[in-house]
Order: sequence, then structure tokens, then C-alpha cells
Amino acid sequence: MADMGEMLAALLARRRSVRGFAADEVPAAQMERIFSHARLSPSNCNVQPWIVHVVSGGKAAEMRQALERAATERAEARPDFPLTQAYSGPYRSRQVDAAKALFAATGVEREDRQARYASFIRNFRFFDAPHAAFIFLPPWAGWREAADVGMYAQALMLSMAAEGLASCAQATLSHHADVVKHVLGIDEELGLLLGIAFGFEDRDHPANRTRTTRAPLAENHVFHR
Ligand SMILES: Cc1cc2nc3c(=O)[nH]c(=O)nc-3n(C[C@H](O)[C@H](O)[C@H](O)COP(=O)(O)O)c2cc1C
Repeated sequence: MADMGEMLAALLARRRSVRGFAADEVPAAQMERIFSHARLSPSNCNVQPWIVHVVSGGKAAEMRQALERAATERAEARPDFPLTQAYSGPYRSRQVDAAKALFAATGVEREDRQARYASFIRNFRFFDAPHAAFIFLPPWAGWREAADVGMYAQALMLSMAAEGLASCAQATLSHHADVVKHVLGIDEELGLLLGIAFGFEDRDHPANRTRTTRAPLAENHVFHR
């Protein structure tokens, strides 16, 4: 086996947010494998608080339509967990850099509000991915369980990357949580934290030319002794 450290580094670098997908569905065996691997994630007291609903085919089409309608018709989002209102300082700079990179790749001018809106709305169609995973928490869950779900989500996206699949974590897929639960026909008490669009990358899609960077280690890490 190749050096595990190198393999992990390659995998971490390979995963990136993809925002344009081919129509081809992920084969059932592969689907089962990626979710089986993700479930090896750690969690507080091993309670495994992730509750995962995956849409494909007709259900995916129904979800896309319902979410796009809610996003265009509603004045405000209705998430189960409050949205971050505004970033400031270094967080704002990083957000702006990532947005600039995406808009540069897709040819959207910063002042072009209409084009920016159209780009935002693509979120609710999960960027035309054939599948989306919606990740819920049980009603009693708090911040610590949300952290568990974050670990699960990264493990899932790395499993996908290892299999040549593309993904994009999407907070936007939780903006209209009531709509998602209605389409899935599930308990309204569950808390929708995020969605993940996934499938095969459309290599010709301009949005997929985007590459993000990371702050140097010293910017947000302190090693004490
Ligand atoms: C929890 C979470 C929610 C996200 N929500 C969205 C989203 O709604 N729409 C989107 O286009 N990207 C979303 N992203 C992707 C981030 O913008 C992306 O991870 C970041 O810019 C770093 O780029 P990379 O994933 O290509 O490395 C989200 C990422 C995470 C982890």
C-alpha cells in the first residue's frame, strides 16, 4: 500500500466543492460503499447523531422544484438552525476571496445583481447534481452533535473523492428546512443542518474551475508548550 500520509494528503486535496454535475447517477453499490465508509466517523459517546436522507431520480426532481420555488417566492429563509448573519475581519476577507474566485470562474460581475442571484439560485437545484444527501439531527441535539455531523460530512465527502465522485456541502439546502421535510415526508422535529450535492463532475462547467486557498497555519493555529 502507498504511504498512508501521502494518500490522505492527496485525498484531502482532491476534495473540493463542485458546482456543476453530469446527469449520470452513482451506481447503487458505490452509493452503499460511500455511506458505509462515512458512518465510521467518530461522535460524542458514539451516539452517531446523523440522520441522512438521500434523494435521487424523481424525488430529486421534486425536491429541486420545491426548493427553487421556496427560494424565489419566500421573503425569508426558514432554517432549523439560525443562519450566520455577517462575517467580519479575516472571516469576511476569506468569504470575499472565495466568492471572487467563483464569480471570476463563472464570468459573473460583482455589480451584476441579477447574475449573482441566478448563481445563488443554482444552489436550490443542488447544481443539477443527480443526488443530494440531507443531513438531520435528532430534536434534542445541540452544538456537540452538530460537530459530530460535521465530521460525518467530511468523511462522506472524502469517501466520495476517493471513489472519483464530486460533492458540494451546502448550507443553502437547509434554508427551507420545512419544505425539505415535507417533500421527504419525515418528522418535522428533526433539525436539518446541511445538504450535500453529489455525483460525477461536469468537467466543462465553468464553476468547477474555482480553486480556494487556505490561511497559513500561523494565522489560526497556536502550539503551546
Ligand atoms: C457546512 C458547509 C456549507 C456550505 N454551504 C455552501 C453553499 O450553500 N453553497 C455553496 O456554493 N458552497 C457551500 N459550501 C462550500 C464552501 O464555500 C467551500 O467549502 C469553501 O469555499 C472551500 O472551498 P472547497 O470546498 O472547494 O475547498 C459549504 C461548505 C460547508 C463546509
